[in-house]
Amino acid sequence: MFAIESGYPTLYVCNCNGIRERDVRHAIACGASRPAEVFKSQGCQAQCAKCVCEMRQMIDESREALRYAAE
Ligand code: FES
Repeated sequence: MFAIESGYPTLYVCNCNGIRERDVRHAIACGASRPAEVFKSQGCQAQCAKCVCEMRQMIDESREALRYAAE
């Protein structure tokens, strides 16, 4: 799902809590290594948990990118 915010599309990862893709990326950059930590960074918790797989995928992709950068 996405909306237009400030002229740019905003992708929502978690519709229950209104957590945007950039919120998840920011939480990961700040050290979140599990979806629960992403929820905590936004002051909420999982409701339906449909977004957890996508959050895990984003966390894994971030780890992978860091691993390649370290090589
Ligand atoms: S979509 Fe994230 S908890 Fe429901």
